[in-house]
Amino acid sequence: MLRRISFTVNGAAREVDVEPRELLVYVLRERLGLTGTNVGCDTSSCGACTVLVDGESVLSCTVLGVQVDGAEITTIEGLVTNGTLHPVQQAFHDHHALQCGYCTPGMVMAAVSLIEHGEATSEAAIREGLQGNLCRCTGYHNIVAAVQDAASTMGGRRES
Ligand code: FES
Ligand code: FES
Repeated sequence: MLRRISFTVNGAAREVDVEPRELLVYVLRERLGLTGTNVGCDTSSCGACTVLVDGESVLSCTVLGVQVDGAEITTIEGLVTNGTLHPVQQAFHDHHALQCGYCTPGMVMAAVSLIEHGEATSEAAIREGLQGNLCRCTGYHNIVAAVQDAASTMGGRRES
């Protein structure tokens, strides 16, 4: 049995019929074609599937699609504005903060949330804030540098 949900994804109103057991990450990837959100572990351990739900960083493999009925979702595809990278994306590019790139969408979304909540205040705070996002390639140094850089660029955009 399918249930219709209505939500906003990257600024656009969407209606999708989903199975009650369907996870948000698969709604995004398979029903909406937003394959930028990756699935790493499917068990809430890696952070690859991180998206924003009503501005909060959420592991989309831990949330059912029906739970986001009425919510506002932002995925990695929603960060680019008129062809311009989001400051966090630009900082990841500038600091070579990725290698294979598999963790990157989730890492970027988690970093956006951290910065927008005013929690990227130091290297230690960034490392703690991103501890749920695993990267098997970079050793984290360049990721942390990128987030520090983006936090300083986005300083005026912090919400709390
Ligand atoms: S796929 Fe969701 S935390 Fe790993
Ligand atoms: S860049 Fe490969 S897992 Fe992070």
